[in-house]
Amino acid sequence: MDRQQVVLHMNHGMGDNSYAHNSIVQQKKVMREAKGIVEESMMRLYTIIPIHCFKVADLGCSSGPNALQLVSNVIDIVDTTTCNLNLKPPIFQFFLNDLFGNDFNSIFKSLPQFSEIIEEKKGHKCGACFINATPGTFYKSLFPNNFLHFVHSSFSLHWLSQAPKELGNEENVHLTSTTPPAMHEAYLEQFQKDFKLFLKLRSQELVPKGGMVLTLIGRDKSQKTHDIRTAWSLIGTTLNDMVLENLIEAIKLESFDLPLYNPTIEEAKEVIEDEGSFTLQRLESVILDWSTNIKEAVDDDNNNNLDLNTKAEFTTKFIRAALEPLLKAKFGEEIMDELFVRYKNKIVQLIMGVKILEFPTLIISLIKKV
Ligand SMILES: C[S@@+](CC[C@H](N)C(=O)[O-])C[C@H]1O[C@@H](n2cnc3c(N)ncnc32)[C@H](O)[C@@H]1O
Repeated sequence: MDRQQVVLHMNHGMGDNSYAHNSIVQQKKVMREAKGIVEESMMRLYTIIPIHCFKVADLGCSSGPNALQLVSNVIDIVDTTTCNLNLKPPIFQFFLNDLFGNDFNSIFKSLPQFSEIIEEKKGHKCGACFINATPGTFYKSLFPNNFLHFVHSSFSLHWLSQAPKELGNEENVHLTSTTPPAMHEAYLEQFQKDFKLFLKLRSQELVPKGGMVLTLIGRDKSQKTHDIRTAWSLIGTTLNDMVLENLIEAIKLESFDLPLYNPTIEEAKEVIEDEGSFTLQRLESVILDWSTNIKEAVDDDNNNNLDLNTKAEFTTKFIRAALEPLLKAKFGEEIMDELFVRYKNKIVQLIMGVKILEFPTLIISLIKKV
């Protein structure tokens, strides 16, 4: 089995560096933006397909509060839709997917409390709800053909199945402004290959006219601001500094590249059209400030007054929660604290220099062609 499928996961548990504690931007901002689009997709489904048991998959669910957010949103939306259309509520079957190393146990442990909350909110009005785990890569088949009504994936599809092979990207771990064009091309080709395969597999698993809503971190063609790739490349600069101080072996850095790609709207659209199984309903881009503070994410307050240190700390934790397991597997646990102290200092300098650090999140809504 591909090593990445075992090593890649977000930081487990509920600790200070866990994904559960450092994924508020995704939950509060992206899922909220996407909820209207999910709602639109469900309303459409309900008016065209009679559904007794509503089968929904969330691909790349991770762990922590975000893992059950889609389940909660779908139950809410379907409840309102069936009430409005005067239909009987369906039975729900949810499939939570992620790679094998994901902290599925912490999701399972939170299920009793989650069910209580749903029961309190919906009472007898809500149909029975079965929640299943489906471990495995979404770049392989996960379900039988013509099985699912709706597929969702939030903040996961910018993860490639692997970094392009034989990059020769010795000092960097991702694309930077000085990376040769051939490497940009290799990353783009890997994204095109992976995303096309993902679409083909999902088109087999969805029923005809089934819906799919995807969100992923993209990039702006004009490159006006520092986007998320600056955050990836600063990991490379930090690791490189540590190589120069003999804290890390150079050979380890030479053979490490992040398996991430952030497409533009145009690149994503081209793959969808080329693959051909889906009709594109929506393709939007929402700009997120990635140095935003938890309070801002929760309250929507203006975050301009927050001090540099707080912004840098927030950004560092958000990146650490996502990248630490991969970095730990390659460079060892003992250097992780030092790596992220240095990384945070680089983020402070970056924020001082540019003030705005934002990235576009692509929201894509698709319908399987008949
Ligand atoms: C940033 S988290 C997003 C979690 C959650 N959906 C959210 O919106 O907060 C990305 C998740 O995608 C998962 N992932 C990455 N590549 C994957 C693959 N090939 N198959 C399944 N899950 C994958 C990672 O393990 C991780 O849990």
